[in-house]
Amino acid sequence: MKLTILVGTMTGTAQLVAQELELVWDGDDVEVETLLMDDLDASVFGREGLFLLCTSTYGQGDVPDNSKKLFDDLATKRPDLAGVRYGVFGLGDRTYAETFNFGGMKFDTLLGDLGAKRIGERVQHDASSGVLPEEKAEEWAEGWLAQAREAAAQTA
Ligand SMILES: Cc1cc2nc3c(=O)[nH]c(=O)nc-3n(C[C@H](O)[C@H](O)[C@H](O)COP(=O)(O)O)c2cc1C
Repeated sequence: MKLTILVGTMTGTAQLVAQELELVWDGDDVEVETLLMDDLDASVFGREGLFLLCTSTYGQGDVPDNSKKLFDDLATKRPDLAGVRYGVFGLGDRTYAETFNFGGMKFDTLLGDLGAKRIGERVQHDASSGVLPEEKAEEWAEGWLAQAREAAAQTA
């Protein structure tokens, strides 16, 4: 099974989460590749396998700067993503009560609008919780992988 982690980050925290997930997931039958969103466009969703969007939130509930090109390309081209299965690990901070985890939510909403189907619940890490995002990722990873395997089996 192939998994692509797409990282949206401003200061690298989401990338640490992706590294942790790679450690947990990479194995005999799972091949994980992590891509920073920086230079990606909508065509990335033509890759084989499943996707995990791992993104923080900035500004007034915006996606991080390095995600904007991909987000805008999807929103403009509006490709049919009916065959795409994805998960969302969002990073945010409840101190920003009005826009908590909007980055992950915006990607989730857009992908859903384009026909893609989410695997599992959208994670909303809270930086003010005292739990490190990598720790949350580690405890969440196995359960999501099990759901991803089911999804991959259904689409195979
Ligand atoms: C200037 C600034 C603005 C932020 N705005 C939001 C926000 O609107 N909503 C939210 O949930 N988190 C917000 N955050 C929190 C970040 O999303 C959170 O700290 C995250 O872990 C950062 O991950 P990154 O290093 O991968 O970018 C903001 C953080 C900063 C520094």
